[in-house]
Amino acid sequence: MAKVVIMEHPLIQHKIGIIRRQETGSRDFRHMISEIAMLMCYEATRDLKLADVEIDTPICHMTAKELEGKKLAVVPILRAGLGMVDGMLTMIPAAKVGHIGLYRNEETLEPVEYYCKLPQDCAERDVFVVDPMLATGGSASAALTKLKERGVKNIRFMCIIAAPDGIKRLQREHPDVDIYVGALDDHLNENGYIVPGLGDAGDRIFGTK
Ligand code: PRP
Ligand code: URA
Repeated sequence: MAKVVIMEHPLIQHKIGIIRRQETGSRDFRHMISEIAMLMCYEATRDLKLADVEIDTPICHMTAKELEGKKLAVVPILRAGLGMVDGMLTMIPAAKVGHIGLYRNEETLEPVEYYCKLPQDCAERDVFVVDPMLATGGSASAALTKLKERGVKNIRFMCIIAAPDGIKRLQREHPDVDIYVGALDDHLNENGYIVPGLGDAGDRIFGTK
């Protein structure tokens, strides 16, 4: 079973507290989502492999470290995942970006796919799938299935707020995918919203409600 990492860093917890507040407007919400993604990226890349490289400093020759040359990609689940892309790219600027468009049918809560554009060589890349919210887990699971159908083998999933149902579903349907979570909340309400959560992440990022 892959790991579930709940972020305990105080800066991440503080910023999540700000985006939960109902009075936080779209501008600050977007800004915070991006900063949280950047901090989470730092934690989620802890185990990237390093290789030795011979270099010269102005003083002498030395053996330094560099990333092993593994190719990375970031794949946001549209719409809300878009809010996390800039933060991820601040930390890993050479990553390619793919997009998977999914929305939840409001009655059935089942994901409906409407867009998919991935880097041509995505099968050779380690992929970070990002979405601020993991509720029932339907959208994330469908996105992970899509990536596996395209040959991607090494996938990590990052979300800012998760419900226990979503974590359980991903562990059941994608036991090979490590999950990085900013905060684990209590439950889903009768409309499939995370409690206490932060409301509809897409609407709050883009100001559509
Ligand atoms: C939200 C969120 C996730 C999904 C989570 O997207 O960004 O993609 O819901 O719910 P689930 O775990 O039950 O699938 P939404 O469907 O609201 O679409 P949007 O981002 O376009 O607003
Ligand atoms: N999608 C959201 O944006 N928020 C929730 O609480 C659940 C799904």
